[in-house]
Amino acid sequence: MVEEVRIDPWSSAQSTDYGRIIEQFGLQGMDSLHLDNPGLHHRRGIVFAHRDLDVVLDAKASGDPFGVMTGLMPSGRMHLGHKMVVDQVRWFQEQGADVTIAVADLESNATRGLSLSAAREVALEEYVANYVAMGLDPERTQVYFQSRRPITQKMGFTLGKRTNLSEMEAIYGFSGDTNLAHVQAPLVQAGDILHPQLEEYGGLRPIVVPVGVDQDPHLRLTRGLAAKSNWFNLKAAKNGGLVIGLSVQDDNAAALGMDANGRLNRERRQSLFDKISAELSDLGFADILSNPKHGSIQIPSATAKDKARIRMRLLALERQMGGMGLLQPASTYHRFAVGLTGGKMSSSEPKTTIFLSDEPDAVAAKIKRAFSGGQSTVEEHRRLGGDPEKDVAYQYMMFFFEEDDSFLAETAASYRSGALLAGEMKQLCIERATAWLSNHQELKDQNAHLINDFLASDAQ
Ligand code: TRP
Repeated sequence: MVEEVRIDPWSSAQSTDYGRIIEQFGLQGMDSLHLDNPGLHHRRGIVFAHRDLDVVLDAKASGDPFGVMTGLMPSGRMHLGHKMVVDQVRWFQEQGADVTIAVADLESNATRGLSLSAAREVALEEYVANYVAMGLDPERTQVYFQSRRPITQKMGFTLGKRTNLSEMEAIYGFSGDTNLAHVQAPLVQAGDILHPQLEEYGGLRPIVVPVGVDQDPHLRLTRGLAAKSNWFNLKAAKNGGLVIGLSVQDDNAAALGMDANGRLNRERRQSLFDKISAELSDLGFADILSNPKHGSIQIPSATAKDKARIRMRLLALERQMGGMGLLQPASTYHRFAVGLTGGKMSSSEPKTTIFLSDEPDAVAAKIKRAFSGGQSTVEEHRRLGGDPEKDVAYQYMMFFFEEDDSFLAETAASYRSGALLAGEMKQLCIERATAWLSNHQELKDQNAHLINDFLASDAQ
């Protein structure tokens, strides 16, 4: 038997077998998607997989609203790994998304012992200030604190009803001695991810969460919770078309036409089916086969392409009838940039990454010591060439500092041929990294006064 890949948001071990990860966790590859304005991360395969990104892109294509959501744990200092997420958030914002950013102050309080006021200070000065400098639009960005938005905790509580310890164990590898903060934090985070869909926070619309692949457990949990809370299921029918089924639960049985004694209330069921039919015919589906008693409606002429439209109508109907009507969040997954020393990038080991507040001299020194894909002598390098895939200086230009694809391709080719030496590669990276950082630090100082404009009204 093939050993399973473990991915764990809290572990320092990471699998980089992306093909296996896609397969094992049922992610979708990026190949079948068309992006109008691919960002650097898409052009270079750094974002390598997604769930339901097509739903988000369809919303954009139809001029419907959509949002992007991320969160930050206020601890430590912001480094290049964080920059990668913000770059993607900005890309979605440029495509028209509204932006919601959670400050996970409850999580950092529980798991890192930061007081809420210390967490606030770190969040604003270390993280939000950098987000501002990276060019997010204050008009369409809302930063909030978990501790000040009780709905996220309430949703975590409500949704918690739809999972259990065995599932948490299966998703996260928990065991008997797991700290319960690690059970609560993902539930509150599910509230973070889902609450932007509530009417008060922008209403029903697709929300995408760009993450590193280690965070996928959170998305699996959240997507599962949303799906399990839904009143209507929509699936491919065995003999073609789509089929809607009812998901009768304690809190919706009456609305879905079941009496307290567990018997079918024909009248109420029929009136529900009339409502669903009206929605479907409004979408242009005339021939539907409904079986109110069985609780199913078939739409033979609908195809997979119609799924998102129909689902949105069903969620809206669920909301009118008193349900939460939650759409599963979409997500995208990026590869990890290797640490400077060739191992994992980790904020607790400053040698392995570049912090956004590092001085240019320190950055140059770090890159000079970075793991190289060159040969051990100049003579050998000229003869055998270097490996840009292993060369951290090259990788950092590709991930973070160089916009120009053709420059990168030429650089990689001349490294492979042996014409470009390892030291020269590092020099190219140092020039770009220090230029980016000093510009960034300048923008951070210049725009510090905007921090407040990014805060949601409940975060002021
Ligand atoms: N747990 C995330 C971290 O450790 C932070 C976070 C909280 C988050 N809520 C979120 C990330 C919602 C994405 C979406 O960094």
